[in-house]
Amino acid sequence: MGNKTIYKQPKKLPSYLWVDSKGKRLSFFGKIYKRLHLYSSFKTNSKYEHILDFFIQNDIEKALYDILHYVFKNSNNQGDYLEFGVWEGKSFIRAYNKIKAIKNKNTRLYAFDSFEGLPEPLEEEKKQMVKGSYCCSKDRFVHNLKKAKVNLGDVEVIEGFYENTLNKELQKRLKIKNAGVIYIDCDLYQSTVKVLDFIVPYINTGTVIIFDDWYLYEGRDDQGQRKAFNDWIIRTPNVTYEEFIKVPGHLNSFLMNKENKNEKYRGKKNGIL
Ligand SMILES: C[S@@+](CC[C@H](N)C(=O)[O-])C[C@H]1O[C@@H](n2cnc3c(N)ncnc32)[C@H](O)[C@@H]1O
Repeated sequence: MGNKTIYKQPKKLPSYLWVDSKGKRLSFFGKIYKRLHLYSSFKTNSKYEHILDFFIQNDIEKALYDILHYVFKNSNNQGDYLEFGVWEGKSFIRAYNKIKAIKNKNTRLYAFDSFEGLPEPLEEEKKQMVKGSYCCSKDRFVHNLKKAKVNLGDVEVIEGFYENTLNKELQKRLKIKNAGVIYIDCDLYQSTVKVLDFIVPYINTGTVIIFDDWYLYEGRDDQGQRKAFNDWIIRTPNVTYEEFIKVPGHLNSFLMNKENKNEKYRGKKNGIL
């Protein structure tokens, strides 16, 4: 995830925004008010930027919804959801809720994280990334899922640094046949390289890969997720892609194509963006 902003939670909302007198349930307008209030308390410079941020956030939500809807509802891809870099579970829970709202019963969700935060970034990444940031324990992550009423029976959590965990043994153990959506939000070039090499067997025609950090490092092609993807697509046989849904400044996604003899070529042939 790119620039994370810190916000202050509003302490008390006006009583007319609650449905019951004990202040337990927010009304529809209360929810809108709270959301606007949260965004307007973001620590940025201009008042109007907060409002803009609110709508940008909605663009991200919409893009994610469209991707999940396309894969799990409209296409024939009956794959699983894999997220690399889950931190406290915000994006993972969001994906779970959307997948369940689409009424997709078969999808399993996999969460991969060190639960110790970021490993050592490369020299050129150190201006923006710090070792150990985004640290959230596995217990805390699972607690957050339970609090959000996620059915843990649908979820598998894989703890550890990718350098140690993403290997053939894990592939044998997990028995994932096919990935529907792969969400990569691990900020660093080397982490993304590990992830991309690990997911090759799970990619099928119709799998969508989302890069949450596509615009990190000033959007440079020679750093971060862009470099990892561009290098990987060249060295990986039979896998091609088409750019799919993108939210400029935030994320990008690719609709993957696994070539086989009987299939018509659809993507851009292992070219660089
Ligand atoms: C920005 S946070 C993820 C945010 C989360 N997706 C969200 O939106 O709420 C990045 C995560 O990637 C994980 N990560 C990065 N590189 C890793 C690696 N090599 N091995 C394991 N986890 C890694 C960090 O532990 C951290 O939790």
